[in-house]
Amino acid sequence: MKDYVDRWHTTDGVRLEMRRMRLDDAPQVKDSLNQLSAKARRNRFFAAIAEFSDAAVSKFVDVDPHQEHLLVVVRRENGLEIPIAGGRFIQQGDGTDCSFSLLIGDPWQSQGIGRRLLKALLREAAQRGLRQMYGHVLADNQPMLRLARSLRFSAIDSDQGEGVVKIVCDLPDAAWRRRRTVRRGPSWR
Ligand SMILES: CC(C)(COP(=O)(O)OP(=O)(O)OC[C@H]1O[C@@H](n2cnc3c(N)ncnc32)[C@H](O)[C@@H]1OP(=O)(O)O)[C@@H](O)C(=O)NCCC(=O)NCCS
Repeated sequence: MKDYVDRWHTTDGVRLEMRRMRLDDAPQVKDSLNQLSAKARRNRFFAAIAEFSDAAVSKFVDVDPHQEHLLVVVRRENGLEIPIAGGRFIQQGDGTDCSFSLLIGDPWQSQGIGRRLLKALLREAAQRGLRQMYGHVLADNQPMLRLARSLRFSAIDSDQGEGVVKIVCDLPDAAWRRRRTVRRGPSWR
């Protein structure tokens, strides 16, 4: 499977690369997770996680590529690839739906990285023939809700308790995607 997904420069000129997560990213992922603010931890994991252990990080990066799609955005520093953001979806139930999550490091938020990641996840899910992508979001997480709305997700009630919203996006079926690709180029570019 192809690793590389996207490459671009931030407005400050920092070169970023989006690719599939690899198992050997674990040590740098651990460092990055442990630098997250309490707010980012709460918004992503719905809990106050004090410290990410080696075991927790191993579970985080070790995925079944047939059921999950896990992307990381890295920048280079002293020959190392430092993870600054990540996104994943996991196929659910009979495999036609998937749930997604995003996590952007605090200094890198509001620079369009979440939008790039979510679009890449939507493209991959549509290519796999999945029908729906959904996520659970804290109701006060306005940046995530705004981003989701801008990519045509709808917000509905969630079964995850008060204060949690479910956001849902129907993915185009294969025939619609073929027609659109011919006429207008691929969607979510
Ligand atoms: C929520 C989160 C994923 C958003 O990612 P991000 O890279 O910061 O967001 P982006 O810059 O891509 O886009 C979000 C912002 O741009 C806006 N935006 C981007 N493109 C847009 C468009 N075409 N139209 C309208 N709004 C747009 C969003 O509405 C939002 O506004 P804000 O800058 O005022 O916050 C990120 O902040 C994060 O990881 N937070 C911590 C963890 C978390 O909340 N995860 C989500 C739970 S799954």
